[in-house]
Amino acid sequence: MATAIVTGSSSGIGKAIALMLLNEGYTVIGLSRRRGEIEHSAFHHLACDLGDAKALDAIKGDLLGHKEINLLVNAAGFGRFEPHEELSQSTITEMIALNLSAPILLCNLLLRKLKESQGAIVNITSIEATRSSKFSALYSATKSGLRAFGHSLFEEVRNSGVSVITLNPDMTDTPFFDPLRFGVGENDDTKLFADDIAEAIRNLLSMRKGLSVTEFTLRPQRFGITKKK
Ligand SMILES: NC(=O)c1ccc[n+]([C@@H]2O[C@H](COP(=O)([O-])OP(=O)(O)OC[C@H]3O[C@@H](n4cnc5c(N)ncnc54)[C@H](OP(=O)(O)O)[C@@H]3O)[C@@H](O)[C@H]2O)c1
Repeated sequence: MATAIVTGSSSGIGKAIALMLLNEGYTVIGLSRRRGEIEHSAFHHLACDLGDAKALDAIKGDLLGHKEINLLVNAAGFGRFEPHEELSQSTITEMIALNLSAPILLCNLLLRKLKESQGAIVNITSIEATRSSKFSALYSATKSGLRAFGHSLFEEVRNSGVSVITLNPDMTDTPFFDPLRFGVGENDDTKLFADDIAEAIRNLLSMRKGLSVTEFTLRPQRFGITKKK
């Protein structure tokens, strides 16, 4: 049975990906602070604040203890969209640690195992990794950094048989927007659903060995946004 490590498995996109992988027969090790609601005999949760390098170091042994690791999905992340001078220093360091450093550290930790299994890495970046938007300088820096990391890593590991997929989703209906002053649009054709992203990954992973899709962007057909009061 193939084994996947999925960060951010307690909510939104990471949760949908974890459920899809369980459905596909994977054993899934979920990493997040909260356990979340997934109840499945092949789901194992490791509580970890991925923004804290020491906490990540503490679960190293648990991760490397798995005989084979076939897939790493980096989905944990958060966003804040404010004038840059209004962001606190702790928000800046936490976002860089979670959105950018944690995936890089996990790849560093697991790459030997992924080479052995000729496995895959999926990095959930964002549409903001591909464009420049007002009030998104910090978030875009983390996501375009992860995008650049994934593309460069693919060049490094492609001959070892490891795929590195960068997935850039547009606005997706998840709790990501709960602390924000805006949210997804009302109509279904103005937003993505977490299951859309999981389904895209299912398709990408089912392509023939020897072919690698290195980047994939998912967007709703129409533009939509809701401003909160
Ligand atoms: N929603 C969108 O519109 C959208 C669009 C493009 C890209 N993305 C990206 O997609 C990814 C998933 O976001 P989402 O929409 O699914 O948001 P979400 O529902 O808020 O989920 C975020 C996940 O990240 C985990 N997380 C947050 N802080 C963490 C920490 N310090 N340590 C460990 N895990 C942590 C959360 O788990 P715990 O709270 O349990 O720790 C949760 O499982 C993020 O990287 C986000 O940037 C989202």
